[in-house]
Amino acid sequence: MTSTSLDVERIRKDFPVLSRELPGGRRLVYLDSGNSSQKPAPVVETVREHLAMHYGNVGRAMHVLGAESTEAYESARDKLAAFVGAPSRDEVIFTKNASEALNLVAHAFGPHLWGATEAADPRFALGPGDEIVISEMEHHSNIVPWQLLVQRTGATLKWFGVTDDGRLDLSELDRIVTDRTKIVSIAHQSNVLGTVNPVAAVLRRAREVGALVMLDASQSVPHHPVNVAELGVDFVAFTGHKMLGPSGIGVLWGRGELLEAMPPFLGGGEMIEAVWMDHSTYAPIPHKFEAGTPPIVEAVGLGAAVDYLQGVGMDAVEAHERELTAYALDALREVPGLRLIGPASLEQRGGTLSFTLEGIHPHDVGQILDDEFGIAVRVGHHCARPLHLRFGIPATTRASFYLYNTTGEVDALVRGLHHVQKVFA
Ligand SMILES: Cc1ncc(COP(=O)(O)O)c(C=O)c1O
Repeated sequence: MTSTSLDVERIRKDFPVLSRELPGGRRLVYLDSGNSSQKPAPVVETVREHLAMHYGNVGRAMHVLGAESTEAYESARDKLAAFVGAPSRDEVIFTKNASEALNLVAHAFGPHLWGATEAADPRFALGPGDEIVISEMEHHSNIVPWQLLVQRTGATLKWFGVTDDGRLDLSELDRIVTDRTKIVSIAHQSNVLGTVNPVAAVLRRAREVGALVMLDASQSVPHHPVNVAELGVDFVAFTGHKMLGPSGIGVLWGRGELLEAMPPFLGGGEMIEAVWMDHSTYAPIPHKFEAGTPPIVEAVGLGAAVDYLQGVGMDAVEAHERELTAYALDALREVPGLRLIGPASLEQRGGTLSFTLEGIHPHDVGQILDDEFGIAVRVGHHCARPLHLRFGIPATTRASFYLYNTTGEVDALVRGLHHVQKVFA
C-alpha cells in the first residue's frame, strides 16, 4: 500500500515477526492487533539490553545497577506522561495492565474510612442509592470491577445501550446519569465495534451532576493522538501490549488531586512512607499505587514503544489506519453474507472490524483463515459478551489493524473469506 503519511514497507521491516514463515511456508498476515500488537526491534532490543546490562531493583538498591534501573523506569514514566499529555509525571501510575488500572479506581470507592491518615473524600463515598454508569459495549475489564464494587457496597450499576449501527445510545443520557451518579466509566474506542465514543457529551452531563469520568482507552491510545488534559476526564486506563510494548505493563492516568485523595490499592513495599505494627502512612503518588517490585523491564520496554510511536507520529498512525479501514469497509461489503457489527462509515470509528458470516461459526472462520492462509484474526466474544448478546449473536470474527498492516493484507482477508464460504457452501 502506498500511504500518503506513513512508509508502511519501511515500518514492516522493524517488526521481525512479520517476515517469519509460518509452518507450511505460509506468510503471516497479522490482523489481531486489537488483541495484542506485535513488537518492533527497538522494543525487543531495549528489553534485552536492560535485562542484560542494567537490571537491578528500582527505588531501593544503593548501587550502580539499582540507579540505572530506577533511572530507566522513571524515565519511562516521563515518556508515558508526555505521550498522553499528562499535566504531571506523578499522575502516571504503572499497573500490570488496563484491567488492573480499572480495578484500582473501582477499589477507591466505598463506604468506609480508608487508612489511618486518609480522610474519606465524599467523591469516593459509595453506598446504597449511589450509582455507577458504564455501557453495553464495554470490555469485561470495564464491567466486572464495577459489578464487584456494587456487590460490596449496595450501590446500583446502570449502563448506556448501543444503537443498531453500533453507537453509544445517549438518547437517555439525562435519565441514566443523575445526581446519584458517582462515576461514569466508558470505552474511548470499542474493542469490537471500533466505535469512538462522544466523550464530550458524556463529560458535560457528568459534570452537571458532579460525577467523575473514567475512560478505558485501551483501544484508543495505541491508535490515535490522545491528550488526557484536552479530554478533560478524570481517569484514563490503557495497556502496554496493545501499543507495541511488552505484556505485564499498563497505565492509569488520573488527575493528581484525585489520586492523592484515593486510598492505596495494594499494600506492600515502596508504597509506604512509614510502617508501625498497627498502621502505616503512605508514599506520595505515583508510588502510593505501586506496591512491591514493579514490572521494571516491561515499563522500560513500553517507554521504547512510545519512542517508536512518536518517531512515526501518532497523526500518521491514525491516518494510515483510517485509509486501511476505509479500504476494508469497502472490500468487506463485497463478501456475500457478511454482516458488519459496528459503524459502516468511517465517522468516529477506528480500525477494528467485527463481523459474522451467514451460517458459518466464527471459530471455523478463524481456523480456516489461520490454517490455510496464515491470517491471524480473533474469534469469539472478545471479552464483550453483553455487547454480543445485544446483537443476538454468540460470537464474531474480528480483524484489527495497526501501523504495519497493508491493503494487500485486507485483500488476503477477503480472499480467505471467499474461500471459507466455498468450504461451507
Ligand atoms: C477496550 C479494552 N479494555 C480493556 C482491555 C483489557 O486489557 P488488559 O487485558 O491488557 O488488561 C482490553 C483488551 O482487550 C480492551 O480491548
